[in-house]
Amino acid sequence: MRLVKLLANLGYGSRKEMQTAIRNGWVTDRDGNRLKPDAKTAHEDILFDDEPLDPAQGVVILMNKPVGYTCSVKDQGRLVYDLLPDRYRMRKPVLSTIGRLDKETSGALLFTDDGTFLHKVISPKAEVPKVYEATLDRPMKGDEAALFGSGEMMLESEVKPLKPAGLEIVDETHARLILHEGRYHQVRRMFAATGNHVTALVRSRIGGLSVEGLEEGGWKVLSEEDKALIFASE
Ligand code: URA
Repeated sequence: MRLVKLLANLGYGSRKEMQTAIRNGWVTDRDGNRLKPDAKTAHEDILFDDEPLDPAQGVVILMNKPVGYTCSVKDQGRLVYDLLPDRYRMRKPVLSTIGRLDKETSGALLFTDDGTFLHKVISPKAEVPKVYEATLDRPMKGDEAALFGSGEMMLESEVKPLKPAGLEIVDETHARLILHEGRYHQVRRMFAATGNHVTALVRSRIGGLSVEGLEEGGWKVLSEEDKALIFASE
């Protein structure tokens, strides 16, 4: 791909601005040589303003989403995209979240510009488990694990029962829920159906990939090993 298009697709600026950037010598290789518009330099050896380029298409990002941020590109208020460099919003193909977390839920959130990868993660066939740590308003009754694991639980206004979900009781108001699907507000609605209320919710894991070590609002580009962890949960 021509350099101007590559840089514009990564969100560094318009094509016109990128032509100017190249002309002004802001785009170089690692030895400081100015690159021409038709340079064939490998992506990882290109510097923009002395900084390595953002990852090429096919990127997967893990964010530790804080409470109070919405998984949207255009809602009012704080958006998860505000936590990434501005240019990430301008990337082509677009960077989308893989599934969503509610505004009031924190924890593991993936982004990608790779449609095939996105489908692989959310496909019901892949059965990637998502692990949630829920804090509850009142003690559990004791029959939640049987209900959630039954494969017969119906949520209000849904036509299909929920897939069996795992429940680990941490203490009477703290539970770890393991889901193999992602319905709207699923964890909150499951506990609401038992007469309880989720007061705090954190997604700690997607498959075998955890947010441990990432500060709130922090994010990282996943390596091939990290990506493989998503599908290797046991
Ligand atoms: N279930 C919920 O209720 N909220 C989320 O954000 C994710 C799962």
